Amino acid sequence: MALPSISFILIIFQILLQLLKTEAKVSSIIVFGDSSVDSGNNNYIPTVLKSNFRPYGRDFDGGKATGRFSNGRVPTDFISEAFGLKKTLPAYLDPSYTIKDFSTGVCFASAGTGYDNVTSKVLSVIPLWKEVEYYKEYQNRLRDYLGNEKADEVLSEALYILSIGTNDFLENYYVLPHRSSQFSVEDYQKFLAGIARNFITQIYELGARKISLTGLPPMGCLPLERTTNLASKRECIAKYNKVAMDFNQKLQALVETLNKELSGLQLVLSNPYPMLYFIIRNPGSFGFDHASVACCGTGMYEMSYLCDQNNPLTCSDANKFVFWDSFHPTDKTNGILANYAVRTSLAVFQ
Ligand SMILES: *[C@@H]1O[C@H](CO)[C@@H](O)[C@H](O)[C@H]1NC(C)=O
Repeated sequence: MALPSISFILIIFQILLQLLKTEAKVSSIIVFGDSSVDSGNNNYIPTVLKSNFRPYGRDFDGGKATGRFSNGRVPTDFISEAFGLKKTLPAYLDPSYTIKDFSTGVCFASAGTGYDNVTSKVLSVIPLWKEVEYYKEYQNRLRDYLGNEKADEVLSEALYILSIGTNDFLENYYVLPHRSSQFSVEDYQKFLAGIARNFITQIYELGARKISLTGLPPMGCLPLERTTNLASKRECIAKYNKVAMDFNQKLQALVETLNKELSGLQLVLSNPYPMLYFIIRNPGSFGFDHASVACCGTGMYEMSYLCDQNNPLTCSDANKFVFWDSFHPTDKTNGILANYAVRTSLAVFQ
């Protein structure tokens, strides 16, 4: 009797895997958060924290400054593409998009915002609770567009990404007196983790099931923070990195708790810290020449309006830089971080 060849069995196995994969695929990517993932919402609100002018976006499709705080795309754009969805996620407040565009992915993020309401007030940006209000409005629009049944299917099979928290420390706690006189840094972290818990519970109750909570980056190594550390030759600020690591541990514990408490929830922590830290310490391994200063201007403090297209010091090849402006990674770094997340924390959703 002829046995099927091993290669035949392998082919069948691959087809089965492919089928499984297609079935598990997410329907849409829905993003909440700050400038790490904002795709242009701040263009439509009265804040000074904007980036819809050159040189922002100079390596984006058509060289367009969309309001992303990067020379190109942000990580969630790369993630969307990796999941077989569109290459860029539209900003919810951009009137040139319709509900049809938003049905396969949408971004509610606002640069400068935080978990804490106080943080969003510093630069008059969209508070996290308001992002959720926009999401509720979006649900109604989606139901009108697709019908209840189809809309609910899309909403429950979407991947929800929250990327937020750096500003709570660097724009609020460590620079303004209000929260730091109220909370020790340990208690402030607990306060923020409580808001993260409420946020996840709230979107779960609204139908979200697949959620990725993003940890904090090594925020003491952002060029702007290094610039304030001149006495130590612009080394990374160890205190801020420690806070980021401690907070990420709290988020990890929260993820474990909520997965037990909320039935059917698939919540993961996407922690950018180790990978970004590795890149910053070993830039050459990724083809970068510079990790401590950014491409824009002198690279030491330029961000938003200070990142000016007439500054003669702005670098010519952003791919040689880990950071684009003093607070945000380049398109290339964002691609590496997104790809890493897709292959690790987000692999369960593929
Ligand atoms: C933030 O503000 C919103 C709207 O006023 C409020 O519902 C929410 O409870 C506030 N969050 C915290 C943690 O105070």
